[in-house]
Amino acid sequence: MATTNIVLVHLLTLVFLLFFSSLWTPHVADWVIVTSGNLSSIGDTLKPGDTLNSTSYLVSQKGTFALGFFRRIDIISNDSYVGISDMADPMSAFNLYVWFGNRGHPFVKDKTGSLTLDNNGTLKIVRQGESPIMLYSSGTNNTVATLFDNGNFVLKEVNFDGSTKSVLWQSFDYLMETLLPEMKLGVNHKTGHTWALTSWLTTEIPDYGAFSLEWDPKGLELVIKQRGVVHWKSGVLRDNQFENISPDITSMYDFKVVSNEDEEYFSFSNKNKSVLMSEWIITFLGVFKDLRGPDIGRADNCYSYDTNGGCQGWEQPVCRERGDKFYLTTGYYVTGDSLSSNNYSLGISDCKAICWSNCSCAAFTYQYANETGCRFWTGETAVQSDRAIDFLFLYLLSSSPSNKG
Ligand SMILES: *[C@@H]1O[C@H](CO)[C@@H](O)[C@H](O)[C@H]1NC(C)=O
Ligand SMILES: *[C@@H]1O[C@H](CO)[C@@H](O)[C@H](O)[C@H]1NC(C)=O
Ligand SMILES: *[C@@H]1O[C@H](CO)[C@@H](O)[C@H](O)[C@H]1NC(C)=O
Ligand SMILES: *[C@@H]1O[C@H](CO)[C@@H](O)[C@H](O)[C@H]1NC(C)=O
Ligand SMILES: *[C@@H]1O[C@H](CO)[C@@H](O)[C@H](O)[C@H]1NC(C)=O
Ligand SMILES: *[C@@H]1O[C@H](CO)[C@@H](O)[C@H](O)[C@H]1NC(C)=O
Ligand SMILES: *[C@@H]1O[C@H](CO)[C@@H](O)[C@H](O)[C@H]1NC(C)=O
Ligand SMILES: *[C@@H]1O[C@H](CO)[C@@H](O)[C@H](O)[C@H]1NC(C)=O
Ligand SMILES: *[C@@H]1O[C@H](CO)[C@@H](O)[C@H](O)[C@H]1NC(C)=O
Repeated sequence: MATTNIVLVHLLTLVFLLFFSSLWTPHVADWVIVTSGNLSSIGDTLKPGDTLNSTSYLVSQKGTFALGFFRRIDIISNDSYVGISDMADPMSAFNLYVWFGNRGHPFVKDKTGSLTLDNNGTLKIVRQGESPIMLYSSGTNNTVATLFDNGNFVLKEVNFDGSTKSVLWQSFDYLMETLLPEMKLGVNHKTGHTWALTSWLTTEIPDYGAFSLEWDPKGLELVIKQRGVVHWKSGVLRDNQFENISPDITSMYDFKVVSNEDEEYFSFSNKNKSVLMSEWIITFLGVFKDLRGPDIGRADNCYSYDTNGGCQGWEQPVCRERGDKFYLTTGYYVTGDSLSSNNYSLGISDCKAICWSNCSCAAFTYQYANETGCRFWTGETAVQSDRAIDFLFLYLLSSSPSNKG
């Protein structure tokens, strides 16, 4: 199968490219499919009794999406995931991850797992040495699970002639950081289920991060929250335009809003039908963008005093003034009192929020090599010096004493 060759060839390219990749390479290029033995596609469908493991993967009919096992290529972590990746960009085998079945529960180190549709119609992720993750338990074996060309992995109950009886479960109900056309943002009133994006924790770690992108069906607007606190709003959607998003950007898309007693949701599609694939993402820094196009909204630039450009302002710490900002500097070392937070569920945007709200904090960076945890410095004693390059990224408050002049 042609797709198999592309995958394998590009895996090799990736290995070489990685050595030259820049510091800010988004995670899109740093992951590979887990290989053990000979990797092969087993079509687009799992039937009862089928198991997918790291020697095989599913490919949608036209080859636009793959479902397989993925892990990072470098040594930061050996965690792996079973997930769905797009194959839109011919320069890279596996680009963007639209679903991870075991998000928050990676297969660690040399442990692996499998995705199984058993004879009882149960779709589950089986983990070596741990309890399985149940995705859906139907109690009937007249089921199939198919990966479609829109990126949706759907478990269906089928009639004896093979036609669809009902949809039991679909990956589009479990969003990660990516919104694809036909995915919904909003709420399903029948099940109480909410469709929302949540960012990764860092550029490389897919755990639940600080930002969410949600649809507010009452206000008819998109909302970015940081750990539950509203930071940015698109403004009302009217005539296919949002108040706080440039018309140059909104004119590229068609928006769809559905509101009835069963569900209220928002979805988008690209007007230009020759664009192979449109993917909106909310990054770990709070940037809301089209992966292959422009930034759509920037919550990363919002401060508590800020009410411009969609920023919503929030409780202002007494010691922070309008105009105070953190800025990013490289290769500087700050002496002075430092304090660490060893909580590796914190990403750099969490460190920023903690530092902003603590009046003695003047600078921060991450604590661990994998860019989790936080380190803070106090304002009174911070001095900037170029004598050592200890940190790749250090954020300093523009009004702190160390930065005057
Ligand atoms: C992989 O495929 C090659 C060629 O088909 C074969 O020689 C080899 O034994 C296979 N390896 C494994 C681990 O199955
Ligand atoms: C993957 O599944 C195949 C077929 O079921 C099996 O032969 C193989 O041992 C499995 N490999 C792993 C790594 O579990
Ligand atoms: C990942 O696995 C490799 C090979 O087993 C090992 O050398 C490396 O230390 C592991 N990395 C982490 C972060 O555990
Ligand atoms: C299917 O369900 C029956 C009854 O609950 C159980 O005994 C059997 O082990 C199940 N089979 C599988 C493959 O899980
Ligand atoms: C479904 O279950 C029935 C009864 O247990 C069995 O006879 C049949 O072979 C099963 N079908 C599949 C596709 O596993
Ligand atoms: C549509 O997208 C294609 C492929 O990206 C591009 O070449 C073309 O210029 C676009 N057309 C318009 C009208 O933007
Ligand atoms: C670590 O950070 C996460 C994310 O903010 C939080 O939910 C959790 O309570 C923190 N853990 C501790 C021990 O503070
Ligand atoms: C603020 O930061 C200082 C110094 O880093 C620390 O001692 C203090 O506990 C922090 N205060 C709060 C409320 O977190
Ligand atoms: C990040 O690094 C810390 C410290 O080494 C480690 O405890 C944590 O598990 C790592 N997180 C991930 C997701 O690998």
